[in-house]
Amino acid sequence: MANASWVFTPTLNKSIIIPSPDRILKRVSCLNAVRGADKLSVSESKASRLVGKGCKLVGCGSAIPKFKVSNDDLSKIVDTNDEWISVRTGIKNRRVLTGKDKMTGLAVEAARKALEMAEVDPDDVDLVLLCTSTPEDLFGSAPQIQAALGCKGNPLAFDITAACSGFVLGLVSASCYIRGGGYKNVLVIGADALSRYVDWSDRGTCILFGDAAGAVLVQACESEEDGVFGFDLHSDGEGYRHLHTGIKENEAFGTNGSVVGFPPKGSSYSFIQMNGKEVFRFACRAVPQSIEIALEKAGMTRSSIDWLLLHQANQRILDAVATRLGIPAERVISNLANYGNTSAASIPLALDEAVRSGKVKPGQTIATSGFGAGLTWGSAIIRWN
Ligand code: ACO
Repeated sequence: MANASWVFTPTLNKSIIIPSPDRILKRVSCLNAVRGADKLSVSESKASRLVGKGCKLVGCGSAIPKFKVSNDDLSKIVDTNDEWISVRTGIKNRRVLTGKDKMTGLAVEAARKALEMAEVDPDDVDLVLLCTSTPEDLFGSAPQIQAALGCKGNPLAFDITAACSGFVLGLVSASCYIRGGGYKNVLVIGADALSRYVDWSDRGTCILFGDAAGAVLVQACESEEDGVFGFDLHSDGEGYRHLHTGIKENEAFGTNGSVVGFPPKGSSYSFIQMNGKEVFRFACRAVPQSIEIALEKAGMTRSSIDWLLLHQANQRILDAVATRLGIPAERVISNLANYGNTSAASIPLALDEAVRSGKVKPGQTIATSGFGAGLTWGSAIIRWN
């Protein structure tokens, strides 16, 4: 090998070939050439990829199951009524997956619509982020969605699990992959089917949740067009006890003579366990703070916000957060009356409806925030298109 030298390494107790710095430089330049930065020096191209790239939301889509469950329907299976549910939550209906319908089917439909709106070919997608807590495979469902969409451009696809905060985490992850990783078209899908983990005999939780999927296409752009201005993300495992769907411990292990715990048995998850009052308090406290921090990082103030788009958990949470931030009710996006809490799907579903109905217009600024199990929460200040 020319331009290389042998170096003795004491830890390996042998000599290895170290290419000359010149050769390393050429390899890095070659990688950059693939990404279209071949005219720049190594340091310049790195800086331009990390700082110079912007990213913007250019398409959205959503999908819901056909089967509708009203508050009156629920009052036939648990001791509740339309008035209690409407007053305490604002929810009137929710959609639930039935029969052979799948969460991944909804995710694919939502993603296709987002690609159509963005006028991006599936082959040009280079990353698929599926934000879900209810994958249809323990190892993740994102690669199946990549295959179903027919993305043949060798994209990466993986799941992000962060309950109702999942979509905001996905959005921020997409912006990081674009700014720092050279990715161009990132599909961020929020999809969940919590109906499969709800105890339909527990009136405290079964009234809240529904199934859905929503998606956005985040695309690399020039820094002047950047549409992800600032974000703020958190988690607090101490709060896990307030909201969880843990593995069933009694099913997790078997006994073999004197050996307890081997061989392990097949396991499953419990129903959703929630201390509603604690989650309510947490959301009303943490979300306004998080949005304030995201605004500060974006160099903006509350007056810059055209729309407040929160995870659609409970109308009373939406109202309390808006009041704390001084945002009038008419600037708060809410569609939870029709769908309930659809977890990671709720923000892109509400965004898609608001965009397609003409409510949210190109160039408008949105403060979005997700919060939920983990506990996790996070906010992002974004611009639509
Ligand atoms: N119908 C009629 N009565 C009911 C129902 C019902 N569906 N559910 C509870 N009640 C009763 C209770 O038994 C209680 O009765 P009691 O006073 O005789 O004991 C009374 O109503 C009050 O119950 P609370 O649980 O105190 O009601 P609360 O006002 O807290 O509302 C709710 C409950 C709607 C769940 C609320 O606490 C809430 O929305 N919390 C936030 C949940 C949330 O946002 N989760 C988001 C994250 S989800 C995720 O990450 C997966």
